[in-house]
Amino acid sequence: MSFAFLNTPSEIISEIEKSNASQVFFLCDENTYIHCFLPYFENHTFQTIVIASGESSKSIDTFEMICSHLSVNYADKNTLLVNLGGGMVCDIGGFVASVYKRGIRFINIPTTLLAMADAAYGGKTALNLGSVKNIIGSFYPAEKIILSDFFLNTLAPKEYHSGFAEICKSMLLFAPEEWKQFSQNPSYPAVYQVKPYVKLALQCKQNIVEKDPLEKNERLSLNYGHSIGHAIEAVYNSKGFSLLHGEAIFWGMALENLLAFKLGLLQEDTMQSINQVLQTLYPLPIELVHIPEILEALKNDKKNDNDTIQMVLLSDLGKYLLKVPVALGLIQETLENYARPKQSN
Ligand SMILES: NC(=O)c1ccc[n+]([C@@H]2O[C@H](COP(=O)([O-])OP(=O)(O)OC[C@H]3O[C@@H](n4cnc5c(N)ncnc54)[C@H](O)[C@@H]3O)[C@@H](O)[C@H]2O)c1
Repeated sequence: MSFAFLNTPSEIISEIEKSNASQVFFLCDENTYIHCFLPYFENHTFQTIVIASGESSKSIDTFEMICSHLSVNYADKNTLLVNLGGGMVCDIGGFVASVYKRGIRFINIPTTLLAMADAAYGGKTALNLGSVKNIIGSFYPAEKIILSDFFLNTLAPKEYHSGFAEICKSMLLFAPEEWKQFSQNPSYPAVYQVKPYVKLALQCKQNIVEKDPLEKNERLSLNYGHSIGHAIEAVYNSKGFSLLHGEAIFWGMALENLLAFKLGLLQEDTMQSINQVLQTLYPLPIELVHIPEILEALKNDKKNDNDTIQMVLLSDLGKYLLKVPVALGLIQETLENYARPKQSN
């Protein structure tokens, strides 16, 4: 699994042409078709498959539609699928590639910051089943990941900011010096300045994934912020809020840091300084609501054993502990405390 930064559409086209595939299909969602395919690749003979944008497309129905499209167009084993989109397109496209004709070739060209820094790399593919996220999937690495920051120019600022959460996660887990430097003046880099951050996040992920591709041990570290973050994301979105993945992860990291402090694993000043930076980047909502549902969602999380929740917690900048068992009662107290002090002021 390799990644390459390419600066122009023509470099991307020649990279794809080098593959000598029998056919090339670009998989896009409605937005990436308009903003990322038409302006750069329309004049080439690539075929396209366009799916609706949004998380609800990561479904069995869409999976079937993509496979049918490949089949009626005689896609054979040497077909190349090019996933041009955010994490949603990369996840479903990767899954299709892993099972269509028992596996075809694919390339990811991520077009969101989240997909560039995280989702496109690492070989995890996924579909959702109803509201249960990523419950179907496979480990099937892309042949290549092609990164071009010009795609980010059309991305909504909210999506761009959300993607930066995964970069913060990487710095906190693996790059303490870079985090210290960043936290002196924390702000979102402009698109033309983001490449070093994407590179850093990918290099960190590459180191971990190479050691533990199937997420048996060390790769679990990448779930930092995601136990509570995923639960908040699932519950809030089921209640009609539109919380982006990265926004939930900013919140999840802050709450998990608070838990690490309560467990005596993370020093108070470190916890506070990290959480202040997270809060500057994503002003956390004043109170957390739907706590019983969030606890219920945590219990169902696939990372759990029995009645304790297993979490990855920071013990310092650049240091973490895997599989820390945390009692549900302490989590409940932490979530409630997070909401309460501000109410009683
Ligand atoms: N496989 C993994 O390792 C992994 C890791 C993290 C997240 N994920 C998955 O990634 C998904 C979230 O990814 P995401 O945040 O990229 O969301 P997304 O793919 O849904 O994209 C967000 C929105 O931006 C639009 N968009 C994408 N690129 C654009 C561009 N360049 N210009 C204009 N609009 C553009 C999309 O159409 C969509 O509306 C989730 O399904 C999550 O489960 C997977």
